[in-house]
This record gives sequence, structure tokens and C-alpha cells, in this order.
Amino acid sequence: MSDAIKLCDVTSVDDGDIAMHEIDGREIAVARIGDEWFAIDDTCTHAKVSLSDGIVEEDDCTIECPKHGALFSLRTGEALTFPAIRAVATHATEVRDTEVWITLSEDTDS
Ligand code: FES
Repeated sequence: MSDAIKLCDVTSVDDGDIAMHEIDGREIAVARIGDEWFAIDDTCTHAKVSLSDGIVEEDDCTIECPKHGALFSLRTGEALTFPAIRAVATHATEVRDTEVWITLSEDTDS
């Protein structure tokens, strides 16, 4: 597993919002729900669309793809609804004082 990398400041993403960050050449969608932070690969597994352009569903802890509406779990990356069937990779996050840090998972591209 790789080392933790500083991702952003806690003020950089509003509660209930999502933003794309590029870390080590990977595009990562970073979502915030309250004090919880989630990081998933930014590209939808159905087509090459940026999930950070989608809508965070705070109650279900999901992101809705902006293209065809597939839902992905922000916690597990699982594709919960069609047309997406493959999960997106998730990455561990940790808040350190006023900063959010990320530990990238392996790039499985699956
Ligand atoms: S591009 Fe995401 S569901 Fe089709």
C-alpha cells in the first residue's frame, strides 16, 4: 500500500459536494458528507464520464453518474444500479487537523 498524501484542506469541499483532484496522475473524486470524506476513482466504469460532475446523495452515501444515472456507493465503490456493473476503486481518507489525506489503493483498472 502506498503512503498517505495530502489531498486538500477541509474547507475545499462543501458538505454534500464532490470535487475532482488529481493525485499521482490519477483522477480522484472526493466527496464530503458531514465530517466524513470519501475518495473514489473519478471515471465512471460504464463510460468515460467524470463522477465528480454527478450528484451526491447524502442519505444513501452514493454518487449518481451525470451521464446515465448509475449509482455508486461512496463507501465501497460498488455499482448499485445499471447501467454500470463494475465498481470504482475506493481510497482511504483521513482528516489530520485541517487537512484531508488520502492513501491510494492499487490501480486495478477493473
Ligand atoms: S457513463 Fe456513468 S452510467 Fe453511463
